Amino acid sequence: MKSKKKILAVLSGFGILIMVLVLYAFKTDSSIDEGYVSQPPWENLQVLPKDISKDSLIHLMKNYAASLGVKCNYCHMPNQLDPKKLDFASDTKIEKKIARGMIKMTDEINETYFKPHFPDPKPKQVYVANCVLCHRGTANPKNYLSDMGLMYNTYESDESEKDKG
Ligand code: HEC
Ligand code: HEC
Repeated sequence: MKSKKKILAVLSGFGILIMVLVLYAFKTDSSIDEGYVSQPPWENLQVLPKDISKDSLIHLMKNYAASLGVKCNYCHMPNQLDPKKLDFASDTKIEKKIARGMIKMTDEINETYFKPHFPDPKPKQVYVANCVLCHRGTANPKNYLSDMGLMYNTYESDESEKDKG
């Protein structure tokens, strides 16, 4: 009897899991399998280390997506042979090319302006500037940057002159 109950409990547990998975599948774009990534060697890395592990690469990519508030297909286009998968190596999308420049820029900011100024012993990696620093969950920070005009109004440029007497 007891084991029957256990089996029932396990089965209903599976039922709930499957329901959640089905709901999730409907919520996201189910036509594209964004989770499908083949193994290294990578075909077309131009700024990231060519021998980067799959775990590290996926970690970075998820970070880019979250920082910009987008999914993988914002930068990667569907595979021509199998449209259910993404063609990660393809450079067709302009967003991917812009992102490549952004990765370079972010690396340069860290290398030039942060790393040299950290006291010794330096941490192995000093990554202070990253995508979310500027993007804050939007693909194009232009929108909230334009609101900065409102901030400037609160700055009294006369103040410093007055201090000088
Ligand atoms: C903001 C743009 C952007 C997003 C979003 C993004 N990627 Fe990328 N991805 C890139 C860029 C740029 C490269 C190439 C980097 C280089 O040249 O070193 C790349 C390369 C890759 C590669 C290596 C392909 C190869 O063989 O050359 C894989 C795999 C990959 N991305 C998977 C993903 C996955 C999975 C996601 C979603 C979790 C994702 N990407 C989201 C921009 C993005
Ligand atoms: C120093 C600030 C800054 C950092 C850091 C930064 N970005 Fe950007 N990014 C911008 C700004 C500003 C724009 C909008 C430029 C414009 O449209 O005039 C932009 C635009 C983009 C675009 C094009 C969006 C569009 O709508 O055309 C992509 C893609 C992008 N960034 C990806 C990234 C990724 C990936 C990273 C991290 C590796 C990153 N950015 C880091 C400031 C930054």
